[in-house]
Amino acid sequence: MKRGDDHRDRERPSRRTMTTVSRHDFGDDLENPVFSISINENKKEDYGLFVWPCSLILAEYVWQQRLRFSGSRVLELGAGTSLPGLVAAKLGLDVTLTDDSSKIEVLDNMKKVCDLNKVKCKVLGLTWGVWDAAVFSLKPNFILGADVLYDASAFDDLFATVTFLLQNSPGSVFITTYHNRSGHHFIEFLMEKWGLKCVKLLDGFSFMPTHKVVALGGNIQLAEIITTIGC
Ligand SMILES: C[S@@+](CC[C@H](N)C(=O)[O-])C[C@H]1O[C@@H](n2cnc3c(N)ncnc32)[C@H](O)[C@@H]1O
Repeated sequence: MKRGDDHRDRERPSRRTMTTVSRHDFGDDLENPVFSISINENKKEDYGLFVWPCSLILAEYVWQQRLRFSGSRVLELGAGTSLPGLVAAKLGLDVTLTDDSSKIEVLDNMKKVCDLNKVKCKVLGLTWGVWDAAVFSLKPNFILGADVLYDASAFDDLFATVTFLLQNSPGSVFITTYHNRSGHHFIEFLMEKWGLKCVKLLDGFSFMPTHKVVALGGNIQLAEIITTIGC
């Protein structure tokens, strides 16, 4: 999954040269986007230093649903290069970007992309299934997670965190995009186990502008999930 996060390796030239900056436009007019977001990526490094297709789809969804997000607090889990959260920040929302607390390089890059795009977001180490003090004060209206359902051994930790956040912030919604590799059964099983309910399920490509779909493949779904406990 990753090439190791030994900080001493960071200065090695072979790793430095792999860094690229990708640009992502939002708006209906191709020639004249409403805003663009630049992302530092390093394809040879960590999963969290690459803009995954699920992230492109979730970012576009946030943009298209911007009126609904208006004035809300947004928390992104496993944010990595953070494109959906950065779109939310460009829309003026209160955004907290999080990733595994042990991924120092990923967390550092999140701060760099905020600076690069001139947005202010909180950046926080949040490892799924770990209850650091900061987790208890988070009260997001929207929890975003792009491509966070890829390692079955982490599903329960992720859903434990998502369930806690949904219960701790009544009315909140978890919006996730994921590769549907083996049907919807696994997510249904997890939702039942954790007292969650899927209130919307979309083909991730159904709302993507044609020019953005060209470079994407696979079967990506977007699910909106709420807690049934206390509702
Ligand atoms: C496939 S990447 C997706 C990154 C980004 N959301 C995207 O779609 O471009 C998965 C992300 O989850 C993070 N992650 C993996 N396990 C985690 C854990 N136990 N706690 C928190 N984050 C984790 C990784 O560091 C990585 O940034």
